[in-house]
Amino acid sequence: MVAMSGADGAKPRDGQGDGQRDGQRDGQRDGWSSRSAFILAAIGSAVGLGNLVRFPAEAGANGGGAFVLFYIFCILLIGLPVLLSETLIGRHGQSSATESVRRMAAESKASKYWEGLAGLGVAAAFMILAFYCVIGGWVLYYVGLFVGDLFNSGVTGGALQGMTADGIKAIFPVLLENGLLMTGLDLLFVAITVYFVARGVSGGIEIVAVWLMPAFFALLLGITIYGAFGGAFTETLTYLFTVDFSKLTGGVMLAAVGQAFFSLSLGVAGMITYGSYVGRDVNLAGTSAIIAFADTSVALIAGLCIFPIVLAAGLSSEGGLGLMFDTLPHAFQSMPAGSVIGLAFFVMVGFAALTSSVALMEVPTSWAMEKFKTRRAPTAIAVAALAAALGAASAYSLNTLSGFHPLGFIPLFEGQGIFDTLDAVTAKLFMPIGAILTAVFVGWIAACTNSGCFWCGGCARWY
Ligand code: PFF
Repeated sequence: MVAMSGADGAKPRDGQGDGQRDGQRDGQRDGWSSRSAFILAAIGSAVGLGNLVRFPAEAGANGGGAFVLFYIFCILLIGLPVLLSETLIGRHGQSSATESVRRMAAESKASKYWEGLAGLGVAAAFMILAFYCVIGGWVLYYVGLFVGDLFNSGVTGGALQGMTADGIKAIFPVLLENGLLMTGLDLLFVAITVYFVARGVSGGIEIVAVWLMPAFFALLLGITIYGAFGGAFTETLTYLFTVDFSKLTGGVMLAAVGQAFFSLSLGVAGMITYGSYVGRDVNLAGTSAIIAFADTSVALIAGLCIFPIVLAAGLSSEGGLGLMFDTLPHAFQSMPAGSVIGLAFFVMVGFAALTSSVALMEVPTSWAMEKFKTRRAPTAIAVAALAAALGAASAYSLNTLSGFHPLGFIPLFEGQGIFDTLDAVTAKLFMPIGAILTAVFVGWIAACTNSGCFWCGGCARWY
């Protein structure tokens, strides 16, 4: 861990106290209290449902080893440079994402329309926040389910004792049918998220990362070691790391690129926003490498955590969100101490989801605070209310509103309800477009038109 001291990359601030909580209101801007706080918060943003739900599901659906290998290739060759570019823009601008891009474009004498790049990211972050918190609500439901189960099944036995296989299989579909319950859980998850965002960067967002990320890592390692001894670990290694190049189709490659952007939180202005709270003396190349390494390690360890449990129970390793919310609870039933492991597992997923939802909410909050010159707490609450409303609509799109396909007239989004459309529009359009334009902007437009600036150390040392 990097030393925590005032001189280790903490953003210089001229004041302490309440003024900081309100962002720019008093002319002072809140920021990370140290470089390690930034690293933990950025890892917290990157490590989330994408690593624990999406990565194993995508690997399962896309042929295992071939997908994993190409994914690592994408992280190194595309993800890492874009991550560095985003944090660089933020650190240089020391403002919201749109203002940071606008400043860099102005200094580079580039078109002011580049600001739209960050605008797109802010919109994407808001859209992801809406459906992400619905999934966060599902995680809360499973935490409650396993807390109850601990009393029922006891500490040593398997989980969900007394339930038939069909009964366990019905838990998730029954939840998805209940729009009201999902909306309530979504509201709860949004409320927890906004509690931390409203308290500011150093007083809230940083706190949640500094406390929850170490706890997350401890739980992940504990469950993985348990699975390594009790589960199908060798089978998992073969499954995840045997590369069959014939499985590397165009579709698998696209899935891997999309997953890399989602997992590193790229293309939605999230890392621009987090980078804007970093002190100018932080080495961004090294820091970005640590973030990418940690995020990729967690995705791989998540695979090593989930598949041994699933394969040992003789269950299918395929199946999207069902892998976590359907297959795993089933697998916990046949495991010794399954209730404890099930509870630990969903608490761990909840921690990861919260540090990411906080990052997602911070993007539109910091944008709106600057745009409307408002205080942090009311702005965050307004963003949360809007996200909860869109979240409720996406929760109902899985049942009552399932016939409503907002972009159904576009072939790419045909037959998709609100929930799936939000996911697809952001993952297939906004994130890749945003990430690629960011790389073009930093690598070509900004760096080439402004000698003596972003890249050389004149005003911001990036190396
Ligand atoms: N990277 C997060 C995950 O893997 O779940 C999702 C995410 C968080 C995307 C924050 C974008 C973001 F700004």
